[in-house]
Amino acid sequence: MNTRTATPSTGKVAFRMEGSIAVLEIDNPPVNAGSHAVREGVVTGIAKAGEAGAEGAVLLGAGRSFIAGSDLREFNKALAWPELPDVIATIEAAPFPVVAALHGVALGGGLELALGCDYRIAAPGTMVGLPEVSLGMIPGAGGTQRLPRLIGRSKAMDLICRAARIPASEALPLGLVDALCEGDLLEGAIAFLAAAPRPKRLSRALMPPEETDEALEAAAAAALKRGKGRPNVVEAIRLVRASTQEAGPVLADERETFQKLRKSPEAHALRSLFFAERRAGSVAGIDPKSARAVRRVGVVGGGTMGQGIARAFLAAGLPVVLMERDGAALETALAGLRAAIEGQAGKGRITEAEATARSEALSGTVEADGLAGCDLVIEAVFEDMAVKKQVLARLEAVLPPEAIIATNTSYLDIDEMASGLANPERVLGLHFFSPADIMKLLEVVRAAKTAPEVLATGLKLARNLGKQPVVARVAEGFIGNRIYAAYRRRAELLVLDGARPEQVDAAVTDFGFAMGPFAVADMSGLDIAWAMRKRQAATRDPAARYVTIPDRLCEAGRLGRKTGAGWYDYASGAAQPDPAVAAIIAEARERAGITPRDFTAEEIQHQLMAAIVNEAALLLEEGVAVRASDVDVVLANGYGFPRWRGGPLHWAAQQEAAALEADLNELARDVGHGHRAGPVARVLAELDTGNES
Ligand code: NAI
Repeated sequence: MNTRTATPSTGKVAFRMEGSIAVLEIDNPPVNAGSHAVREGVVTGIAKAGEAGAEGAVLLGAGRSFIAGSDLREFNKALAWPELPDVIATIEAAPFPVVAALHGVALGGGLELALGCDYRIAAPGTMVGLPEVSLGMIPGAGGTQRLPRLIGRSKAMDLICRAARIPASEALPLGLVDALCEGDLLEGAIAFLAAAPRPKRLSRALMPPEETDEALEAAAAAALKRGKGRPNVVEAIRLVRASTQEAGPVLADERETFQKLRKSPEAHALRSLFFAERRAGSVAGIDPKSARAVRRVGVVGGGTMGQGIARAFLAAGLPVVLMERDGAALETALAGLRAAIEGQAGKGRITEAEATARSEALSGTVEADGLAGCDLVIEAVFEDMAVKKQVLARLEAVLPPEAIIATNTSYLDIDEMASGLANPERVLGLHFFSPADIMKLLEVVRAAKTAPEVLATGLKLARNLGKQPVVARVAEGFIGNRIYAAYRRRAELLVLDGARPEQVDAAVTDFGFAMGPFAVADMSGLDIAWAMRKRQAATRDPAARYVTIPDRLCEAGRLGRKTGAGWYDYASGAAQPDPAVAAIIAEARERAGITPRDFTAEEIQHQLMAAIVNEAALLLEEGVAVRASDVDVVLANGYGFPRWRGGPLHWAAQQEAAALEADLNELARDVGHGHRAGPVARVLAELDTGNES
């Protein structure tokens, strides 16, 4: 018979006896973060189990998860006793076996706690992983030692340095979990304990499985490359390698390294971005529960973006109806999409069954009527106001009133676009980035009349697509492209004033961006901006500085990579500086009466950052961006800004105020006529850099 002795909960961990087995249930809503109270509760619970003469203990989570990770809000301060290694030491010292019963997610400190138990069982679908590296740290409670002892050093390096999350079905054959449990998790854990081969099995006492030096070296090199050689990645690799040594000293080394890294500026920046990303998808006054169900979507326009957006929807399991102008264009677009799906299956990225499901979920139409059953239709037709207005009017005519109409416009005024509709409340912007199925960022544009539940639906859809949403108001280029325009303009002015394009690009990649502005321009093609400049020529302020170099490049047929030349020459395949470009630049300087001056890499970096930060401040002042941290999220997720710097505004907040002001003054001077100074100091003062959630 079970003797069930209910004892009041020990803070965040409820303790009870189920027969001879102690049950410790962690209950720290909403995600069961491993906070100080949780750690204390586990230590107390294990002690109580000892007092009660337990023959075994089960550690499990209440609610949605085992433990979603350590509470990052504690990470800016000194950690109070018991720290996680103390908790694990208590579990290891207990005279009875402890099994961790996992469900939902077991991440970071949560997984380390489980690794410190004698056994691990998991409900199917549980996700496990050690994401610390993505937060500028390393696992600090034995993750770098216990994981390789269970699954091997190469595999541990890979999982830790990738900050990977893997499903329990993958963790089982690796040896990370000992069994999957289909039925009731607690019953399964108790049954597992009853059959456990030995009372204690400390993973710290195991030897990592043998592997060849070559395999280990290859894994280390791959992990280092993927981790861009960041200092924490180097440390993680070093410690995993050392897991063949006696555990005690290496665990102490790991803890010390973790403590140092968690207080580093890089970890601080990454935590700031983590919280910024969580905040970005919520808007005051918008109830997420008011979101409408989106079960079927329509995409109008099957070009670059339309196809990418369709791929993103299909990957999320949503049926897509694609609309094109005529039968031929529709066939081309559908064929492109089918080829992409087959290509993914061919590369093993998706299963054949998944590929078939996606192809079957895709259909096409050339008549708007064919979209009638869609809950949301997004247009990605040519960037032309008249064309878009026509498309929206047609959509309004065929769709039921509750269906949502979205636009993927890059620059156009959505308020004007929706102005001819009887019901403009149903319109919002969903600005995807190219390639739309890969890029994380999604700017969700709240037009003047967008209904709250329509916005809520856009935000929820973004999450369902696995995207990072950021809310923007209507403005030319919204948040990202508007900042990028200011950045690119500053880069071109630097070249006009004396810097070389390759020097600017090198300074930018040294700063940590994925690519420099001129390499990016060549990749996307110079013709679109050229066409825009021609359109704007009549209204341009003649007193403002104008860089003619890109126009001359275009006139010379240098439209970027696709024509084999742009800011660089691509005859050899790779980007090479070209004397012909140097001549065009020299001529432009001469015509503008400029004596070229020298720029250091640091000056280039600071001027480009000043341009970004200033434009961000203007966007916040205008209300286009809701909060300062949203700008950091946009740049880090859509524009290759180095995540480990936390975003441009986080970076700016770390600079000395006087130095930043000097940079902003230099920006104002060099941009000259027409420059608008944004309220940078005020914006930075409002920026939450304290890592509170
Ligand atoms: P695209 O020229 O590759 O594709 C446009 C497609 O729309 C063409 O296939 C065309 O046949 C089709 N189309 C035109 N009028 C139509 C109509 N009335 N009905 C049905 N289909 C019609 O253009 P792209 O690059 O895909 O851009 C589409 C939209 O996405 C534009 O508003 C653009 O500003 C925006 N955008 C583009 C990005 C990019 O990187 N290319 C990034 C983000 C947004």
